[in-house]
Amino acid sequence: MNDAALPKADWAFPTQVRFGVGRIAELPATCRALGMRRPLLVTDQGLAGHAMIVEAVARNAAEGLPTAVFSGVRPNPVAANVTQGLAAYRAGGHDGVIAFGGGSSLDSGKAIAFMTAQRHPIEALTVASFVEFREAQAKVVTEGLPPVVTVPTTSGTGSEIGRAAALIDETARIKKGLFHQRMMPAVCIADPELTVGLTPAQTAAVGMDAFVHNFEAYLCPFYHPFAEGVALAGLQLCDAWLARAVADGTDLMARSQMMAASLSGAVAFQKGLGAVHALSHPLSSVLGAHHGLGNAVMLPYVVAFNRTVIGDKLAVLARLLGLGKPGYTGVMDWILALRARIYIPHTADALGLTEAMVPELAAMAARDLNAPENPRPLTEADAARLYRATLTGTVEG
Ligand SMILES: [Fe+2]
Repeated sequence: MNDAALPKADWAFPTQVRFGVGRIAELPATCRALGMRRPLLVTDQGLAGHAMIVEAVARNAAEGLPTAVFSGVRPNPVAANVTQGLAAYRAGGHDGVIAFGGGSSLDSGKAIAFMTAQRHPIEALTVASFVEFREAQAKVVTEGLPPVVTVPTTSGTGSEIGRAAALIDETARIKKGLFHQRMMPAVCIADPELTVGLTPAQTAAVGMDAFVHNFEAYLCPFYHPFAEGVALAGLQLCDAWLARAVADGTDLMARSQMMAASLSGAVAFQKGLGAVHALSHPLSSVLGAHHGLGNAVMLPYVVAFNRTVIGDKLAVLARLLGLGKPGYTGVMDWILALRARIYIPHTADALGLTEAMVPELAAMAARDLNAPENPRPLTEADAARLYRATLTGTVEG
């Protein structure tokens, strides 16, 4: 083969994962192995008083690792959450971060650890475009970064082993990202038992985030063949287990399989995402919608939009999953049936979207960092058409 036949590509596979029921007991030893003596545990206000946080702090203390808690993380976190956490980290003389919770806590904890070593303020490092991304990367300091352990309590975000933190810019009301290869946590403790308390609605929303990570990564046109394999494995897990995890939150097998699906999605989306995420981000930054729920609502409309360029891949997916019909029709029926089974709304008015907001959100979606990763270019006019389709519930294609 001509060695110029395949494109150049940058591939990264993340973080050591300690996967399995009960492995939260390994938190003190994990922190110690990474050299932590005074970790800061970062979580959100809702989880701060929860037994799993209280027990983790007590277990660390019993093993000689005094652990302070910073719980100033809000859903869809903003840069100020990170700045306050950074102040707490410095005031407490900490030497590592335990990011414990859902995506907002994981992103914030990783960002706090990352910012401890930076010379620039966080506003200079968060980006919303590829141009800004390149400029920001050149400013990053990587010396002296403290270790991070992530402990996910939901299955979906992928942040537990990812290299990014999503933060809302409150002034511009857009979702920005803090990205760096060195933001990857050192260790992820993936204990499915920690997800048992999620409500069916939370399980469905975060589970659809995992689903969409695998799905968009599979379809993203960038060259990363083994990420595609991981994505297909993740989609098989979602197909088999997501509805079961929603129906019975105490089903530890379903919880475990969905945690594996979330980790698969995180590995796979190193390749890229697409228009579902691009259109979902403004729903979070402007309307405060849950990220996974926004993805779940947008998904079939985007699949229909991409239909002309993803036919071969959907044929493979339909065969792999043994769907009742081949290709696009089989995959679309499967997506619509799964969404209905786990009570995902079909139209975006359920998220607060109105016709009057469409032009503003469409402009934001077309500029989103994930838009260029979509198999088909996503223009502002396309984004507006797709948002309008979600108001009428019309899946074209
Ligand atoms: Fe996502």
